[in-house]
Amino acid sequence: MEDWSDCLDVAVQIAQRAGQVVQSAVKQEKRVSSKSTPTDLVTEADHQVEELIISTLSEKYPSHRFIGEESSAAGVKCELTDSPTWIIDPIDGTCNFVHSFPMVAVSIGFAVRKELEFGVIYHCFDGTLYTARKGHGAFCNGVRLHVSKEKDVSKALILTEIGAKRDPATLDIFLGNMKKLLSAPTHGVRIIGSSTLALCHIASGAAEAYYQYGLHCWDIAAAAVIIREAGGCVMDTTGGPLDLMSRRVVAAGTREIADYVVKQLQPINYGRDDSD
Ligand code: IPD
Repeated sequence: MEDWSDCLDVAVQIAQRAGQVVQSAVKQEKRVSSKSTPTDLVTEADHQVEELIISTLSEKYPSHRFIGEESSAAGVKCELTDSPTWIIDPIDGTCNFVHSFPMVAVSIGFAVRKELEFGVIYHCFDGTLYTARKGHGAFCNGVRLHVSKEKDVSKALILTEIGAKRDPATLDIFLGNMKKLLSAPTHGVRIIGSSTLALCHIASGAAEAYYQYGLHCWDIAAAAVIIREAGGCVMDTTGGPLDLMSRRVVAAGTREIADYVVKQLQPINYGRDDSD
């Protein structure tokens, strides 16, 4: 049975290399355009970094498959099969990247037979490296990660992200969900502009729960392994098992806090990553 540790080592090297490209691109002028909505941004750097990651990996692993944020935006089918599949977000936090707001990451997840095997997330501004392989723990710069064991929601810090839809009906639901969690009361709700780094904060125990409608499989794949290996839970917003393609997630340090968050949420429909 393959343990995929060689692939993880390669993922770490390429994530760090890609992160350095992002670091130097931050200082240069950016060519920005939009994708699904005016607030769903993409830059030349997103394309360059995805091309760098996929071309390097496909040369090394010609039989493997790839799901990448920018390839999917360009029309490549976003399909998770049983084959070994790399799930890549070249620049997570593109809006932050455009503003040089220091919360930007490269995220590389890896699945085999539709099961997530490992994840690597590299924080491009401070060089922090989050890694995890199924069954072998989660690490930040080589130090073991543990989620928060808090069960009492009134002592919880909750993280979320806004998503790309900004029509009044969606915003009403988004703000309603946040209002319910603020008035629980929890200690607070934070939005940092990068789903992957926010999820890493759940893995490190810096916050108790994360929820979002509208993220993508490349925002969740690597982080889901890192959180689970740090002892946390990652699930669907209905409380069922995580569906990587469903564009929604709840993650938490404890099942008690996850269940509480699930019960508060009114859904926002973003469709699926794997619908045509
Ligand atoms: C996005 C960011 C954003 C979140 C979106 C993500 P991108 O990723 O993480 O904070 O709200 O759902 O898709 O587009 O910057 O790679």
